[in-house]
Amino acid sequence: MLSRGAAASGRALRGAGRAGGQPLARGLRASPRSRSAMPSWVIDRYGRNDVLRFTRDMVFPIIHFPNEVIIKVHAASLNPIDLSMRISCFAGGYGATALNMKRDPLKLKSMDTEFPLTLGRDVSGVIMECGLGVSYFKPGDEVSFKPKRLSHTEAASLPYVGLTAWSAVNQVGGLNQSNCSGKRVLILGASGGVGTFAIQLVKAWGAHVTAVCSHDASTLMKKLGADDVIDYKSGNLEEQLKILPLFDFILDNVGGSTEKWALDLLKKWSGATYVTLVTPFLINMDKLGVADGMLQTGVTVGSKTVKHLFKGVHYRWAFFTPSGPSLDEIAELVDSGKIQPVIDQVFSFSEVPKAFLKLEGGHARGKTVIDVISKK
Ligand SMILES: NC(=O)c1ccc[n+]([C@@H]2O[C@H](COP(=O)([O-])OP(=O)(O)OC[C@H]3O[C@@H](n4cnc5c(N)ncnc54)[C@H](OP(=O)(O)O)[C@@H]3O)[C@@H](O)[C@H]2O)c1
Repeated sequence: MLSRGAAASGRALRGAGRAGGQPLARGLRASPRSRSAMPSWVIDRYGRNDVLRFTRDMVFPIIHFPNEVIIKVHAASLNPIDLSMRISCFAGGYGATALNMKRDPLKLKSMDTEFPLTLGRDVSGVIMECGLGVSYFKPGDEVSFKPKRLSHTEAASLPYVGLTAWSAVNQVGGLNQSNCSGKRVLILGASGGVGTFAIQLVKAWGAHVTAVCSHDASTLMKKLGADDVIDYKSGNLEEQLKILPLFDFILDNVGGSTEKWALDLLKKWSGATYVTLVTPFLINMDKLGVADGMLQTGVTVGSKTVKHLFKGVHYRWAFFTPSGPSLDEIAELVDSGKIQPVIDQVFSFSEVPKAFLKLEGGHARGKTVIDVISKK
């Protein structure tokens, strides 16, 4: 949330904190004057890092729907999608079609209203105002019943990657506390935001975890509970994995050529599942428009699913999915010490462009977080 205030859906907020409106901005409560505008990082066009612009003039969010709340943002974290959206893979900006459809489903506004755009989607903060339909929260609640043992900076590192991992492992992959014990889980791209969360989640449920990462992340992987760690840069990864016993579940955070060989590492005819987070869903929508993009996506995933079903394994795509109940379960796992935030680097609000450069450099070891409140 690269602004100091955010309008968000109250339903999605239960647990640790997820906001939907204006991310990288700060919300100010005191006087009517101070609440008419707020400091924010915005972009006026898609492009390189220098498109990020600091402004004190972004209009303070107002509640449009009864299920929304306004949050005073204390901390925010960045995700690869924020970078993709800033860079713009296509003329309209990565994910712009889906984003604009969500913001303006009836297409009432022109494309000119797309900018200035505040990037960011992860937040920890304090509820300032609630819509009339919100009963779960009240002003003053820390968003949103965040894990009690965490600071806002730590809490902001969790919602997006936590809900993405939860969606992939639990909702799509079907693993849970009761059926995960002893299952062999392979995580490709284990050292980033999603991977570091996913390792801890399936370990908390009793799985045996093989983590694939660069050599320098091995110690972190072991600390998070990985049983086996494979360095994908030391020789042929496929050959290194082939000599291990087969897996019950694979989470692919890398994509590309991995899906050509990774499914051969699964146990056959036993319900074993491969789930990838790297899909062409948003790109298809940007390239082909909403209807054709969705059709293309359906055809691609459908044909791959059927092809692999005949080989005795399940092939699935997963997406970040907002869910209050899942956030509550994540908060419990954090409060019980089974999951801890993994923070690569914290930046101050004035350093948002530096934080984007860090993200752009790759090689994440957990999350990049912005401390929105502390002055620096
Ligand atoms: N479908 C969705 O809704 C959804 C939601 C969230 C994320 N995603 C996608 O999921 C992926 C992971 O997200 P994230 O937030 O975890 O990204 P991240 O924080 O940037 O982490 C990526 C990690 O992968 C490692 N890596 C890169 N190439 C690798 C390889 N060939 N083998 C093993 N590890 C490799 C990187 O470290 P090194 O380069 O140093 O090895 C880094 O630690 C991204 O592509 C993201 O766009 C999708």
